[in-house]
Amino acid sequence: MPTILATGGAGYIGSHTCVELLNENFDVIILDNFHNSVPEVLSRIECITGKKIKFYNCDVRNKENLKKIFSENKIDAVIHFAGLKSVGESCKIPLDYFDNNVSGTINLCNVMKEFNVKNLVFSSSATVYGRNPIPYKEDMPTGDVSNPYGRTKYIVEEILKDLYASDNDWSIALLRYFNPIGAHESGLIGEEPNGIPNNLMPYISKVAIGKLEKLTVFGGDYDTKDGTCIRDYIHVVDLAKGHTKALDKILSSSGIQIYNLGTGKGYSVLEIIKAFEDSTGQKVNYSIGPRRAGDLAANYSDSQKALKELGWKTQYDINKMCKDTWNWQQKNPNGYK
Ligand code: NAD
Ligand code: UD1
Repeated sequence: MPTILATGGAGYIGSHTCVELLNENFDVIILDNFHNSVPEVLSRIECITGKKIKFYNCDVRNKENLKKIFSENKIDAVIHFAGLKSVGESCKIPLDYFDNNVSGTINLCNVMKEFNVKNLVFSSSATVYGRNPIPYKEDMPTGDVSNPYGRTKYIVEEILKDLYASDNDWSIALLRYFNPIGAHESGLIGEEPNGIPNNLMPYISKVAIGKLEKLTVFGGDYDTKDGTCIRDYIHVVDLAKGHTKALDKILSSSGIQIYNLGTGKGYSVLEIIKAFEDSTGQKVNYSIGPRRAGDLAANYSDSQKALKELGWKTQYDINKMCKDTWNWQQKNPNGYK
């Protein structure tokens, strides 16, 4: 079976994807600098899968260390998760975001090229669509983004398109994730945000467990069914499975492929709160507050292309997403600590 290097594989999406890769019998090597994760994740992945993982503590911006990994292993493809992902933080320290996300990717691709490894899956984001009509489709124009984080994703997509245009031996998948939530059903791995969460679902579960007092719903006056914003929430395990399908595709062809990974359905913030309460029996204390700068009223995916070309579709509904989030939260009230 092919050997896959997962950069940022100890993170939220990376750890769930490594579980699915191991379940599908891929050999997995994880590289991470633990900027936003902890070593404990690795033993949890091994515990779920009963398999050993090879690990390197390495920063993707460190060329010498990357070369060492590529010279010690026969790598068939790379999934590049490593990066910084907070929109708010990216407005405060944009240079760090460009350095990590853009320079890090260029560095990685240079080393891949040197070792003639030209199969790459890149973690992109629905944020690249900006102000397009919904549902978002892969062939829509991109780049109308309103923050440095989103810009790094757009720029990397463009760099990778240019890379493929320069050398058609590359086989690259740009995966545009919608809103991943939930956790592995074992409750052994999940999302552990640093400090106060920015994203909706981790905030809800911290309120439910009593670590935060109250959720503020950002805006109740949008032009949507109940006035709150609509997003396409996807179970992280479904998202992880999308990566194994994308790998199958890029390992058997060359080209640059773009896929939305979403459910194709939108839920409002109030619907998410209700789904969480109904599926867990926990009350979520909330109030409606002002809008958050930069939020769009509604977005969700058209997920037909991934279905047609990868044979991938989501399995888990919103109740399962909420249940698994809560299971992880209850079993790990202090995260991995
Ligand atoms: P995460 O922060 O949990 O995981 C990222 C991992 O990369 C972490 O383990 C971190 O320690 C590591 N890392 C960061 N910089 C690194 C570097 N320079 N060298 C080596 N390792 C480094 O984030 P996630 O939610 O798992 O997201 C994974 C990828 O998916 C990111 O690129 C993110 O931008 C993208 N994405 C995430 C979402 C989301 O909602 N979570 C949505 C769209 C896209
Ligand atoms: C955000 C980022 C996006 C990034 C994604 C994953 C912005 C503008 N967008 O997406 O670029 O790819 O996270 O990291 O930050 N909400 C509340 N109260 C809260 C938190 C969120 O009402 O305390 C609402 C938001 O207004 C939004 C919805 O919940 O309508 C989802 O928010 P969030 O989880 O932050 O995801 P996005 O904003 O879609």
